[in-house]
Amino acid sequence: MAKSTAEITLRRLRQDGHIRDLVREVRLSHKQFIQPLFAVEGIKKREEIPGLSHTFRDTPDTLLKQIESDLKKGISKFLLFGVSAKKQLKYDFTANQIAAIKKRFGSDIWLAVDVCLCSSTTHGQCGILNPEGDHIENNATVSELAVQAQAFAEAGADCVAPSDMMDGRIATIRAAIPSRTVLMSYAAKFHSGFYGPFRVAADSAPKGKSKLTDRATYQIDPTHPTDALRSAERDAAEGADILMVKPGLPYLDILKELSQQIPLPWAVYQVSGEYAAIELMAREGLMDRKRAHLECWQAFVRAGASMIISYGARDAKEWIG
Ligand code: PBG
Repeated sequence: MAKSTAEITLRRLRQDGHIRDLVREVRLSHKQFIQPLFAVEGIKKREEIPGLSHTFRDTPDTLLKQIESDLKKGISKFLLFGVSAKKQLKYDFTANQIAAIKKRFGSDIWLAVDVCLCSSTTHGQCGILNPEGDHIENNATVSELAVQAQAFAEAGADCVAPSDMMDGRIATIRAAIPSRTVLMSYAAKFHSGFYGPFRVAADSAPKGKSKLTDRATYQIDPTHPTDALRSAERDAAEGADILMVKPGLPYLDILKELSQQIPLPWAVYQVSGEYAAIELMAREGLMDRKRAHLECWQAFVRAGASMIISYGARDAKEWIG
């Protein structure tokens, strides 16, 4: 017989740290974390990034030191953004960084590399602009992305991660890279206001002679969740190994639904604006930095993420234990 609700004492399982430990359903591990890194060409010293505390625009030298220090803190998976000084479709700077990192650290680290054109174009758009400057050419962009992905994979990247949101890029990139290279698709990437600090770090804000002032013609509209589902299903069918939802916190519903529907490993990106919001509040004494980040990361795992990309990754081991 069912007991009356008066006898159900939920606080019994909350009464001390031992029982709370035992009943926990969500467990985080620092092994789930991927740390973003920025390698910047043509700077003499590493630079801080406004809003992104503990994150730097690194020189080739300081980048290696940063990875060494992250490894000591138990973080061994990275997502590299290469920022070349020349705004041209040339990828040798980033490819050289990949080769140098893998030469130094080999299989001690797992290196994913972001694939996109926004840091390599004068206009900061994620693709190739038509001569009129009002449209991103899909197929020309996809061909160029495949060239970039191949250069990064051949330089030694363990994973390439296209973040551009063009149609058909997963199949084209899959065909261009070696079979051992993991393909992580930014599949459910939304047209978000939370990317601000990143665009300063990657020098990739839309600007210059393009008539497009934003990325609305290729990133997913926040009010169109079925577009995210179709994008993820399509990328899975085209051969992506890992799918991603981005940003994290404003799109937990998407993460939960898509991870239940599509049986691939799911990543979530706690993007620059989400991270910076917590950092700024913590600096003002309005929030505890560790508690706030842990709470967001737990929400990601609850919603179905098996891996988390976060600028706070390098604190994860110390915090999670
Ligand atoms: C490049 C790219 C962006 C991010 C990752 N890859 C920015 C954008 O789409 O404008 C955002 C990451 C972040 O905000 O932390 N296309």
